[in-house]
Amino acid sequence: MMKGNFPVDKFRNLTTPFYYYDIDILKQTLDTVTAEAGKYGYHIHYALKANANPRILAIIAGYGLGADCVSGGEVQAVLDAGFPADKIVFAGVGKADWEINLGLDNDIFSFNVESAAELEVINELAAAKNKVASIALRINPEVDAHTHAKITTGKKENKFGINLGQFGPVLDLVKELKNLKLIGIHCHIGSQITDLTAFQGLAIRVNEIQEELEAKGIGLENLNFGGGLGIDYYHPNHLPIPAFASYFEVFNRLVKVKPGQQIHFEPGRSITAQCGSLISKVLYVKKGEVKKFAILDAGFTELIRPAMYDSYHRIENISSDEPTEIYDVVGPICESSDVFDKDVELNKAHRGDLFALRSAGAYGEVMASQYNCRKLPETYFSDTL
Ligand code: LLP
Repeated sequence: MMKGNFPVDKFRNLTTPFYYYDIDILKQTLDTVTAEAGKYGYHIHYALKANANPRILAIIAGYGLGADCVSGGEVQAVLDAGFPADKIVFAGVGKADWEINLGLDNDIFSFNVESAAELEVINELAAAKNKVASIALRINPEVDAHTHAKITTGKKENKFGINLGQFGPVLDLVKELKNLKLIGIHCHIGSQITDLTAFQGLAIRVNEIQEELEAKGIGLENLNFGGGLGIDYYHPNHLPIPAFASYFEVFNRLVKVKPGQQIHFEPGRSITAQCGSLISKVLYVKKGEVKKFAILDAGFTELIRPAMYDSYHRIENISSDEPTEIYDVVGPICESSDVFDKDVELNKAHRGDLFALRSAGAYGEVMASQYNCRKLPETYFSDTL
């Protein structure tokens, strides 16, 4: 079986489960995204909700990317990692006052605002500091991303963004509020989108919205298309670098860019997913009446995506080259949803073997919990191990 490139001998001395990051893959990904976006002068704000590990953030900051934050904690994390404040965008439907103040104090590039109520609060807090806050309105473009319901965001029934029907009154409000400066619009239709036609729909929709706004005399300096580019969870060894070239090409071909207008993106998963694997040890091989279970020392506390979204992660037994057998791969948590995958073909497993759960660099470590009083996983990096 084709497997990833892992220093298994070094792994044997480490306490499992842990996250392992392949820094070469991360750098190849960053080389590609910066080159492809650079062709069109696009601005990239890394969505650190995907992975906020300080070492990973520092590497990404080194490539000159901006950051897309969704909490005060994230704003602080990227400032600490060396991202420039004037490349920070700050989204989220529920920003607390202290979080808004943190953004104002650091003069971040933009608050991506999701409601009229939020506009009033940002205006008030900015006025108290004698500042003018730069804001982008997050619109709900009503484009179906054709992805998992729990990670679809651009539809009318989702809590995110401002619905197009309410856009007029919101614009009037922005004009009234003196401590706000409208710098553009923002949208995000969902995550793990592999069918690029969804992005075509988004580009065309934003053109229409721009035309409507122009008719009202409103020009936009910035268009932010959010994140969402998917990765290949099935072939992390063959196709580790996401399709950045075709993704940006869609926008370059379809978006009617106005003179001087700047285009922004907020990729998260596509930057960090493929560089990370969760490494776990087989505690027991349990032979049931109809199934054979490989019971790991990692569970949904370390990687919640399969339990939460029915997500697929490729699993490899990196300790064995024996002929393959079929296993259900499960964790130790006392819940029946603590299953990584069923009927997986793996090299014959023994107690003590190491398994790699691949493509776990995004929404893996960062979503780990301490349920069952478990410890948070350690992290190791290919270049410092
Ligand atoms: N911008 C906004 C406004 C977002 O809401 C998101 C993700 C992103 C950018 C980054 O999207 P990406 O490029 O990573 O698709 N925990 C889920 C994914 C949640 C995504 C939430 N928003 C998962 O494990 O699949």
